[in-house]
Amino acid sequence: MNKKIFSGVQPTGNLHLGNYLGAIKNFVQLQNDKKNNCIYCVVDLHSITVKQDSKTLKKNIRETTAAFIASGLDSEKSIIFNQSAVPAHSEGAWILGCVSRMGWLSRMTQFKEKAGKDKEKASVGLYIYPVLMASDILLYDATHVPVGDDQKQHLELCRDIAQKFNHDFMSPNFLKPPEPLIQKEFARIMSLKDGNSKMSKSDPSDFSRINLTDEKDLIINKIKKAKTDAMPMPESTDNLDDRPEVLNLLGIYSILSNQNINKTKADFGGKNFSLFKDQLTELLIDKIIPIGKKIKDLLKDEKYLDEILNKGAEKADKLASKKIEEMKTIVGF
Ligand code: TYM
Repeated sequence: MNKKIFSGVQPTGNLHLGNYLGAIKNFVQLQNDKKNNCIYCVVDLHSITVKQDSKTLKKNIRETTAAFIASGLDSEKSIIFNQSAVPAHSEGAWILGCVSRMGWLSRMTQFKEKAGKDKEKASVGLYIYPVLMASDILLYDATHVPVGDDQKQHLELCRDIAQKFNHDFMSPNFLKPPEPLIQKEFARIMSLKDGNSKMSKSDPSDFSRINLTDEKDLIINKIKKAKTDAMPMPESTDNLDDRPEVLNLLGIYSILSNQNINKTKADFGGKNFSLFKDQLTELLIDKIIPIGKKIKDLLKDEKYLDEILNKGAEKADKLASKKIEEMKTIVGF
């Protein structure tokens, strides 16, 4: 079966190793299988669910596009565009918002985390964020959605929304519930400072993450300071459930070197932590520095990046307009 792939990344700056290993690296692999049709979106409408500065937003939209290209996405092979350039996303979100139930959205853990203690002050946009996400996916009849583990609940909701629309409007199979594509291991890259919390753009400490544009010295420093524990490097049979920081670093090493965690454990078992950290740093420098350099180079040519987005938006609009028109007819407009 040919897969239709859709995924998105928010242009909120500080794209990090979690975004790369959990999502973008997989976008590239999926794109490079000729049987797949891939659409990758810079989800700028999602980003304004929390306050953004207009000038910085524009810069971040280009930077996320540059990160896609620098990581290996190719605008000739994949459709690359920004969400606000295709009006059907917002229109679809409204219609689907009328199908979605308050109770479903209230259960979303990401909203609870992001809204924090003061829910009353969170934007309505933040609350209905997953409905817009469902619109993104369903407009293109995407069959598969590559994401990190933190988006799993939103994809389950997307499936529920699709089924409810089909049921309410007696239009079986019109909206296609998608399958999530989530890595089996290390689908959630954790903070370098706390193995129990996710590596995130919004963590106030820059030392909690490796940004794709970090310079070499900074990467060296961040790994040096990354939290570990007082025990020696684990042997291959050791259970690491109570050593989340060590497990995370071993995981990062394993994904970057395309090898199984057991092989990584066997390679470093009983060795010095500093040796492991040195090799992890080398690997990160080898894989991430070239991406960061390319991002910075691409950012010098804004016209080129804007052109990619404009051409992508034209292609995406053709697909999405057709689906939204059908959707409106079904609704009775
Ligand atoms: P965003 O921008 O927060 O994250 C982009 C992608 O990076 C993944 N990710 C991680 N993966 C592993 N470990 C981490 N620490 C980590 N942090 C982030 C996210 O899972 C995501 O795949 N709602 C989405 C954007 C979106 C979308 C869509 C995705 C909007 N519409 C439609 C798929 C389909 C998000 O939060 O992106």
